Amino acid sequence: MDKQYLIKKALEAQEKAYVPYSNFKVGAALLTEDGELYTGCNIEIASYSPTLCAERTAIFKAVSEGHKKIKIIAVVGDSDFTYPCGVCRQVIREFGKDATIIVANSEEDYREYKLDDLLPHSFGPEDLEEKEQE
Ligand code: THU
Repeated sequence: MDKQYLIKKALEAQEKAYVPYSNFKVGAALLTEDGELYTGCNIEIASYSPTLCAERTAIFKAVSEGHKKIKIIAVVGDSDFTYPCGVCRQVIREFGKDATIIVANSEEDYREYKLDDLLPHSFGPEDLEEKEQE
């Protein structure tokens, strides 16, 4: 599956965003290590804090279906290169320590990162494993 296809799926997911409060639409599409594709959009709630970002919608869909390893995730939003928020970076860290993150304006105009570029010196599951072994 090529990157352009993943961006296309993220753009399609973006159209489904439920954003009555911010009117800021975000879409995400991810590929799991075992070859499954999941998409997500942001979903806003009137009391604000339950709002879910597009990336986490896609990731939680994948994990809840048994696919816990993210290989690559593409994100599109209404700003010029919409980057994943800090919370989403930490969630990607949980399920895709070596994931590639594509931040795209369009299928032709995109930037590519590793999770470590966007969340250096991160904390993750392995830190807790070390503690358990003591
Ligand atoms: N949003 C995302 O969906 N992903 C991000 O990484 C950045 C922010 C959403 C949350 C909210 O619905 C809207 O963008 C404005 O913050």
